[in-house]
Amino acid sequence: MLAQRLIERKRDGGRLEAGEWRALTLAYAAGHVPDYQMAAFLMACFLRGLDREETSALTEAMLDSGDRLALADLGVARVDKHSTGGVGDKVSLVLAPLIASLGVAVPMMSGRGLGHTGGTLDKLESIPGFRTSLTLAEARTQLAAIGCVLIGQTKEIAPADRKMYALRDATATVESIPLIAASIMSKKLAEDLTGLVIDIKRGSGSFLPRLEQELELAETMIRLGADHGCPVVALLTAMDRPLGRACGNALEVEEAILTLKGEGPPDLLEVTYALGVEMLLIAGTAASPDDARRQMEKAIGTGKAAEHFQRIIEAQGGNPGVVEDPAALPQAAECELFNSPRRGFVARVEPRAIGRGIIALGGGRTKMEDRVDPSVGFVITARPGDWVEHGEPLATIFAHDRAGVESGKHALRLAIIIGDEADPPLPLVSHRVSGSGVELVPRP
Ligand code: URA
Repeated sequence: MLAQRLIERKRDGGRLEAGEWRALTLAYAAGHVPDYQMAAFLMACFLRGLDREETSALTEAMLDSGDRLALADLGVARVDKHSTGGVGDKVSLVLAPLIASLGVAVPMMSGRGLGHTGGTLDKLESIPGFRTSLTLAEARTQLAAIGCVLIGQTKEIAPADRKMYALRDATATVESIPLIAASIMSKKLAEDLTGLVIDIKRGSGSFLPRLEQELELAETMIRLGADHGCPVVALLTAMDRPLGRACGNALEVEEAILTLKGEGPPDLLEVTYALGVEMLLIAGTAASPDDARRQMEKAIGTGKAAEHFQRIIEAQGGNPGVVEDPAALPQAAECELFNSPRRGFVARVEPRAIGRGIIALGGGRTKMEDRVDPSVGFVITARPGDWVEHGEPLATIFAHDRAGVESGKHALRLAIIIGDEADPPLPLVSHRVSGSGVELVPRP
């Protein structure tokens, strides 16, 4: 195989056969194709696109570049949830223990925050002692014991994707639907799932801004799942404002714990339940959406879900005491209210500006090697559409020092827009996409 010929063919609008995808991907993972050739190839893919067979062949080649979990002998359904990422999105922290407490295995592989969005691994690592880098053997043992593991992409999983994703990040080739779908699905298929639920974010804080792109991503991942025997369902959910109130790693863990105890914000609970219904239905452990919802409400009401989170934290070396006493999480040195500069409607709470504000506070990263301060962030109580008086508190800033408080105020002035009127926010859950097509989700 000559990489140059394959680049040329893709550049000119041609297609690669499955064997060629495999040879190129495995050669790149093994270091036999240099980054400059793969970068040129990925740009050709970005500009020319991939058809269904090519997307499937790339997914399979990336999957086969590494190891997989083998979980069939657990004897239970295995379901994961993936989110395209947002601000304040701590759903995974609630959903994984909740669904595992109902007897479905959840091998959840998550990522770190990059750009304006947060990452589940950073949130989990704000729990003192929590280890997210388990080997596949450790992950398997924990799944057999307690039905849930919360880890990052291990070195063994889809190493070709790991290398290609880093290269795409550096060469402006991330925003290609077939490349995104193949990248995500190569990791998800390595988890040996019996089903996958995807949360595709919509609105100004999402990374795919147009509805057609969001639906196309959902449909591409559903087809890839179908090609590999893994049913996939996607929900499109709102990210035109942050989800819940807490934005920042330890603050989000605290809000997730409150939600597991039935005291979380209603929007977070609604999105969690909507995704949880799909997980239980795909697992075959609920007879209907109502049954699934009742099971989840009971697990939260009885304390079973929160207790399961304690077991997961303990199994992964963290301090399970944070569930009883969230004050054991890292605490910011400075904390100050942010008040409304005028009376009026809360017109917008812009997730990107909030995400950038968290980075400026030290709670996010612009480069993968950056360290994050888990204690900083915002708790935003103002919701789009609320009427507020001049001087009324809209949010609380949590910062490392006084300079951080000032930077937090600057971010909130840009993010929270008070006006004479407010546009209606996007519905929390707007579309459901499955192998049977796209359905509009009725408003509750
Ligand atoms: N997340 C991934 O894992 N891969 C992509 O390509 C984009 C988002």
